[in-house]
Amino acid sequence: MDLDFNRKLSIAPMLDCTDRHERYFLRLLSKHILLYSEMVVASGLLHCDNPEMFLGHEPLEQPAVLQLGGSNPTDLARASKLVEAAGFNEVNLNCGCPSDRVQNGNFGACLMKEKHTVADCFKAMQDAVSIPVSIKCRIGVDELDSWEFFTDFVQTTKDAGCRIFIVHARKAWLKGLSPKENREVPPLHYDFVHRLKAEMPDLNISINGGIKTLDQVEEQLQDLDGVMVGREAYENPWFLRDADERIFGDKTPSPYASRKAVLEAYLPYVEKQTAEGCPATILVKHLYGLFTGLPGARKYRQLLSNGAPRAAEYGGAVALIQKAMDLVQED
Ligand SMILES: Cc1cc2nc3c(=O)[nH]c(=O)nc-3n(C[C@H](O)[C@H](O)[C@H](O)COP(=O)(O)O)c2cc1C
Repeated sequence: MDLDFNRKLSIAPMLDCTDRHERYFLRLLSKHILLYSEMVVASGLLHCDNPEMFLGHEPLEQPAVLQLGGSNPTDLARASKLVEAAGFNEVNLNCGCPSDRVQNGNFGACLMKEKHTVADCFKAMQDAVSIPVSIKCRIGVDELDSWEFFTDFVQTTKDAGCRIFIVHARKAWLKGLSPKENREVPPLHYDFVHRLKAEMPDLNISINGGIKTLDQVEEQLQDLDGVMVGREAYENPWFLRDADERIFGDKTPSPYASRKAVLEAYLPYVEKQTAEGCPATILVKHLYGLFTGLPGARKYRQLLSNGAPRAAEYGGAVALIQKAMDLVQED
């Protein structure tokens, strides 16, 4: 599998969003995008009773990447082996998340201050698996926001063998900003990412942060290898409808000509997951944004969110989704 092809457009790891159900749903919109998991803490994966909870997925989701959080090379190596055995196509190391919880575990964005630890982690992971290992990072942390700091971090991990970087093009403040603010307040510096590619053309570089349209994706791809989109894919997934043709050059028409057709195609999966005991709340929450901008979208969303906790009253999750869909006008 040529993941560098799929990497042209990837969907960002997002906690509480990019679980297996969201990935399955997004795959219906594009055959080629690269789908990332939520971050899974390596030690949590190793010590939990049911690793399937983190690793379980449908082959249809692939190509898919599982993102690990951690800073212990041995744990990360062991966790990477599980990720590979579960069928994921790549494993990613999180060096970009600034939340307190993650900092307390000494991983995520604060690892950018410990480039040698990251290099050791990367090497242990890559030595343990034959799938690629990638790094997702910021352009800096706290007052360490110079070009020299950023490029030194990348060079050190590159020397350890890493060639795939996804760069969220803003720095993170480790104290004083919430994770949400850390996705909005520090300004975006796309220039850092473009300069990185220009100076290290042998690396595979994806840019991330604030990208919302396929026009923007195409523009970034003129100089870079890939674009990663987060919030827009979650809040307005329909923007992906032409991605296969425009970004990947796949002229095969999508089997789903409308948003409702995509949703219909998701229903057998909902039925299967419901039979396996998955609550409706988890299965429908990823569908809220599908009809963004259309008449009736608000009512659709309200019915899904209010109805899901008592889906049985509607005849189950599938019936609830069908009822909600009927509230939307789509030409
Ligand atoms: C709800 C939410 C959860 C996130 N969780 C993660 C995560 O688990 N790992 C990670 O590397 N980044 C995480 N991020 C950051 C995104 O991957 C991405 O870097 C960020 O949202 C910027 O991209 P965007 O402007 O396209 O949304 C999260 C973002 C959001 C909105």
